[in-house]
Amino acid sequence: MTGNSAPHKVLGAPVERREGLQKVTGAARYAGEYPLPGRAHAWPVPAAIARGRVSAVDVSDALALPGVLAVLTPDDAPRLAAPEDATLAVLQGPGVPHRGWCVALVVAESPEAARGAARAVRVTYTAEPHDADLDPGDPDAYEPRETNAGFPGRVEHGDPAGAFAAAEVRVDVTYRVPPLHNHPMEPHTSTAHWDGDRLTVYTSSQGGTTVREVLAQLFELPEDHVTVVTEHVGGGFGAKGTPRPDVVLAAMAARRTGRPVTLAYPRRYLPTTVGHRAPTVQRLRLGAGGDGRLTALLHEVTTYTSRVREFVEQAAVPSRVMYATPALLSSHRVVPLDVPSPSWMRAPGEAPGMYALESAVDELAEALGMDPVELRIRNEPEREPESGKPFSSRHLVQCLREGARRFGWAERDQRPGTRREGPLLIGTGVAASTYPAAAVPATATARALADGTFAVRINATDIGTGARTVLAQIAADALGAPLDRVRTEIGHSDLPSAWLAGGSMGTASWGWAVHDACAELAARLAAHTGPLPADGIGTRTDTAGRADADSPYARHAFGAQFAEVAVDTVTGETRVRRLLGIFAVGRILNSRTARSQFTGGMTMGLGMALTEHSTLDRAFGDFTEADLASYHLPAHADVPDVEADWIDEDDPHLNPMGSKGIGEIGIVGTAAALGNAVHHATGIRFRDLPLTPDRIL
Ligand code: MOS
Repeated sequence: MTGNSAPHKVLGAPVERREGLQKVTGAARYAGEYPLPGRAHAWPVPAAIARGRVSAVDVSDALALPGVLAVLTPDDAPRLAAPEDATLAVLQGPGVPHRGWCVALVVAESPEAARGAARAVRVTYTAEPHDADLDPGDPDAYEPRETNAGFPGRVEHGDPAGAFAAAEVRVDVTYRVPPLHNHPMEPHTSTAHWDGDRLTVYTSSQGGTTVREVLAQLFELPEDHVTVVTEHVGGGFGAKGTPRPDVVLAAMAARRTGRPVTLAYPRRYLPTTVGHRAPTVQRLRLGAGGDGRLTALLHEVTTYTSRVREFVEQAAVPSRVMYATPALLSSHRVVPLDVPSPSWMRAPGEAPGMYALESAVDELAEALGMDPVELRIRNEPEREPESGKPFSSRHLVQCLREGARRFGWAERDQRPGTRREGPLLIGTGVAASTYPAAAVPATATARALADGTFAVRINATDIGTGARTVLAQIAADALGAPLDRVRTEIGHSDLPSAWLAGGSMGTASWGWAVHDACAELAARLAAHTGPLPADGIGTRTDTAGRADADSPYARHAFGAQFAEVAVDTVTGETRVRRLLGIFAVGRILNSRTARSQFTGGMTMGLGMALTEHSTLDRAFGDFTEADLASYHLPAHADVPDVEADWIDEDDPHLNPMGSKGIGEIGIVGTAAALGNAVHHATGIRFRDLPLTPDRIL
């Protein structure tokens, strides 16, 4: 596919990932794979109490083991400037805010030696009483002013309670989503080394620019003394969106030992260390007239935060976008607990929030005796309900109609529990998806070289999405050049600064800067006569003030998810037969990598619906499902037929490519479509995820 010589067709083409061969042959280097001479390895020691203080750390046995170089403790670890993100204040004092908090770090010649010595570190604690129980009635619960991503904690229009009480048809239901873990295939890993007062880290992160800023601040270095390499990253799903303790600890260990140090965070310690999706308890009240038009929508979320820093999963936020209603309440309450800090996990807010909203809409359809596709179409708003702004583009109805047509929805018998195949009950379900479409400023350079090739440079990160490839496509399109003449350099902090791969904003943000740098270069080349100078001609673009400008439009991506399941009445097992997602997400820039984002997201939604479950143990203040043997991600056999497609959408109000983000919307709505299908199959409404056999039976 590379070597496409029709530049006008390059945008949207199913171009293969440029680094694909390197990845499948093992040549691509991940953060723990840089064989620096003299490299040592670190292993953390997690706190064994849920709250209290470290009273002593005895390192004598650990230091006596072969190959052990050092043990860093809260008493003697290098001091850091106070971080803005308090989860990074590791080994800075004796306090233990939650179980799993790092209380010591062993450095040794090999990972095995470090792991063995970590078990020989003797930590004694002064324990204090802790509270790790999410109770919606907790007297400490409060309404946050803002949620994650800066959304207001509460939005209220009209008279929601009164309108609900007066509604002809009412649904009042509570849904629960458990804690969920990101578990990227590559655990959080960093290799650090110092050269005098210059620090270099190879780190598994969604964005090196922030890593550099944070390390410079913590170690009190000028930013140009910190180099951050994020060349290949084995997934993140939000857990690598900002620097996590691994990179800080690796830098501390390297400073202490004078050696390059790799810290590959053990899988079992990730859940307490790198963030997780906080559990939510979500009460939905929907009131409607007999015609199905909503008269009241109330979405009230209770969640928890750690005491280390406030994080509020914004699960009620999608209810401000989806449906026309004269009375709206969307609010959050948060309980501070002695628990590991929650953080970003793919589609924070939308993934759990749309599970609850789209399940409740299905319940309303049943109460009305109305088809759930038709009910959604009937409540399509003309403007964004929260802001009153017009949508930059919104094709949810088209997604629902196209999905229904392809799925064969018209043949569905609406009555639940009517399709049987032996011991199996078969059902189908639908749900809508949404995710905000935004961009942030970025800087890129483009250079035309005398040999007829082009170099595009930007500190973007490819977390497995194909960012290198799609940026080359954007560049080739703007330059009017063949794709194989364009080189993209990303994943290094010496490159022009850009924000992270997160919030489904990576490609929109980086692509904007790349597009503009290349368009300007094309114009300069068109005006240039004669051969190029030896070092070529270059341009540099910064999209500050444009990519972050306020818009008079409400900008969101939309989609519709359709699912068919078979529920085994003997074993209680739910098997997915079909999943179809139809999305309206602006212009698709690479059909191959886009499809992969959608089906990957939908597979993650399948896991959320059916297999993924974590339990915060109240007694220990820690998760019981801390490894991949107990935390069940869907395996290939669980994922039979996932199909994703999109409708043509041209949105001029977003960015020069007309694209919306696609990294997160695939997970949104999948769990509701599956839950609705299970209800259609069985006639029973299960409101707590996941829908494991023990719950179904
Ligand atoms: Mo995503 S959860 O914004 O990395």
